[in-house]
Amino acid sequence: MTADLTVRAARLDDVTLLAALNRQLIEDQRHHSTATDADLADRMGRWIAGDAYEVALVEERGEPVAYGVWRDDEDGIYVRQFFVVRHRRRAGVGREAFARLSSAWGAAPVKLDALVHNERGLAFWRALGFRDYSVILARDPATS
Ligand SMILES: CC(C)(COP(=O)(O)OP(=O)(O)OC[C@H]1O[C@@H](n2cnc3c(N)ncnc32)[C@H](O)[C@@H]1OP(=O)(O)O)[C@@H](O)C(=O)NCCC(=O)NCCS
Repeated sequence: MTADLTVRAARLDDVTLLAALNRQLIEDQRHHSTATDADLADRMGRWIAGDAYEVALVEERGEPVAYGVWRDDEDGIYVRQFFVVRHRRRAGVGREAFARLSSAWGAAPVKLDALVHNERGLAFWRALGFRDYSVILARDPATS
């Protein structure tokens, strides 16, 4: 059951929690990141305090279960981060939480990046109606 989800704008006193969830997001999608915990907290604080991004925290009976970070670009919404806590996955929390976030975006197109090896994330987005749109190419630093 996910009927008890509430969505609210993140506050600066959520930074420690959200930075810890951001760390789990990095781990779960096996993202190559060199950011320290302090870097993640600083960035999250900037996102919450600044105008460029929106950060929302999703709670279930007062407990954090998901968060999202997005910005409103000229050509639509760009979702920078979306995460569901590990112990509440595969229970419809992600689907409902994302529907709640996106209900405020009207008819704007929505774009996001997903790592090609993040099969769970890709399955989730495709289940929500997303389709392949562009390919980002990356080259690792030369090792020789
Ligand atoms: C991806 C993520 C947000 C999914 O959240 P969730 O709450 O488990 O998703 P839901 O339960 O709402 O699932 C909705 C649908 O997505 C698909 N899906 C979700 N997780 C899946 C998985 N592990 N394998 C296959 N399909 C999956 C299913 O179609 C599912 O519907 P079903 O349960 O009726 O089969 C969550 O696993 C997560 O936070 N992962 C780590 C962070 C991440 O990868 N974020 C996306 C970055 S691009």
